[in-house]
Amino acid sequence: MYQSKAFEFKLQVNSNAEKSRRSRLGLAVTGVVGGSLVALYAVAAPFVAPALRKICLPFVPATTAQVENVLRVLQARSGTLVDIGSGDGRIVIAAAKHGFQASGFELNPWLVWYSRYKAWREGVHRSTSFHISDLWKVSFAQYSNVVIFGVPQMMDQLELKLASELPSTAKVVACRFPFPTWVPERTDGEGIDTVWVYDAKTFKSHLQHGMTGRTTPDQQETLDSHT
Ligand SMILES: C[S@@+](CC[C@H](N)C(=O)[O-])C[C@H]1O[C@@H](n2cnc3c(N)ncnc32)[C@H](O)[C@@H]1O
Repeated sequence: MYQSKAFEFKLQVNSNAEKSRRSRLGLAVTGVVGGSLVALYAVAAPFVAPALRKICLPFVPATTAQVENVLRVLQARSGTLVDIGSGDGRIVIAAAKHGFQASGFELNPWLVWYSRYKAWREGVHRSTSFHISDLWKVSFAQYSNVVIFGVPQMMDQLELKLASELPSTAKVVACRFPFPTWVPERTDGEGIDTVWVYDAKTFKSHLQHGMTGRTTPDQQETLDSHT
């Protein structure tokens, strides 16, 4: 009788220990799965976020030919350069290697941290800087060379922003998609690697004279009535 009570007690203790082991294991699994999901979200969200903005500008890195074309059309230039939406920093780093004091503005913090690391690894951290910023909330007034690999939906707004901010000595290089109303002074490359070069003196004078190439609703009505 005494022996069977002791046996029952032992069974009870073993079962409690098993339950507690399972519950600890359950907690650990939940912690690992939960932690992994949070980490995955933290990494993925900045890459997905641009697609959810009004203007969707995803991370599509420049091709090697595209970077070469940018450097070729700017080879007679020097001073400051900015890549608007600098991605993994490849244009900024390549420009720094060609003597520019180069900066990148990028919304995605992971890409900015990676760019800083790459610039340090490639020995150009002193002539580069990377900023976690929204391109629409900063001024590019201090830059004499501007590079943009944008999307067609943003180019008309960017024309107005750059025309009002940049000094008349600046040059702007558009990759893959040209500006809608500015007239390029030079084009280089072909297909998806094409780049267009614009002179600020020209597009700023057009802005001052109201020659933006855009039509107001009133003008459009007049044009429509004549067609
Ligand atoms: C087409 S990629 C170009 C990347 C880089 N310039 C290159 O040529 O390799 C555009 C970049 O702009 C960034 N971006 C999107 N919206 C932005 C915003 N509002 N402000 C700053 N960067 C933005 C994206 O995260 C992406 O890295």
